[in-house]
Amino acid sequence: MSLDLNSELYYQWHEPFESVIHFFRNTLLQIGWGQGHQKEVAMDVGCGPGGTTTQLVLPLFPRLEKVIAVDLLPHMVDIARKHHSHPLVEYHVADIENWSTIEQWEGQISKIVSVHCFHWVKNKRKGFENVYKLLKKDGEAGFFFVLEASFYATILEIQKNHPKWSSVFKDVENYIPESHYNKHTASFYENLFRDIGFEIILCREKIVEDVFASDEDFKGFFSSLCVLKAHVPADQKDQFEEDLYQEHLRQNGRDKQGLPYHRGRMIEVVVKKTKD
Ligand SMILES: C[S@@+](CC[C@H](N)C(=O)[O-])C[C@H]1O[C@@H](n2cnc3c(N)ncnc32)[C@H](O)[C@@H]1O
Repeated sequence: MSLDLNSELYYQWHEPFESVIHFFRNTLLQIGWGQGHQKEVAMDVGCGPGGTTTQLVLPLFPRLEKVIAVDLLPHMVDIARKHHSHPLVEYHVADIENWSTIEQWEGQISKIVSVHCFHWVKNKRKGFENVYKLLKKDGEAGFFFVLEASFYATILEIQKNHPKWSSVFKDVENYIPESHYNKHTASFYENLFRDIGFEIILCREKIVEDVFASDEDFKGFFSSLCVLKAHVPADQKDQFEEDLYQEHLRQNGRDKQGLPYHRGRMIEVVVKKTKD
């Protein structure tokens, strides 16, 4: 299944979640990011439409040479260039799993950050190995991504109990990360990072509830992420979206204020490359 994210919709409905803001303003700041005396060359992997890059990555580094922001999807990069251009940010199309698309930055990056990207990456070991090769000695990388999510549970439930959508789910295994199926924990990733050669600075999982301001916001956001929609006939897309939403509400419920929210087991990781 191709990664058929709807970039326009994602741009339209996306505002950084509180949990992502917390990752930048608490987790990364507390371990000293942004406090070094050298100018940083930062990279944002899976930058999407660039909102997170300009609103959260840029302000993290008071001394900054540039941010190289990369994304697999050319239309995401187009939107980022159009709506979030900044003199210190270069946007490029590149695939973190494919070394030939990123080798030009080998050994040059001092900080790599990646938010809500690695759960899409099929060969995570390859992706993390490439991050290792991109970093300078003493460079660090911070990742925040999904291990298990109520959204994936909803999709699997629809697959099981709504036969009318069975054709949509031909490739569903490709869409749901193996961490969700296999209930991978932080220690699984700790071992993987160590094995690649990283030193672990921090690796922890947390349960995150991302609340949406309205039903419309929730539907718009998840519709932009639901690549399965590409398999739904045009005249049934609205119905599919509604069924997905109702199933999610049935499983997850609403928060105390009656707002829809998404629940996920997520991982925060910061690792360091200590050798040349
Ligand atoms: C959910 S979006 C998150 C975007 C942004 N980091 C944010 O916080 O809003 C995930 C992004 O990762 C990108 N992506 C997925 N796999 C990738 C890969 N192998 N290499 C680079 N980018 C990738 C997708 O195209 C998408 O734009």
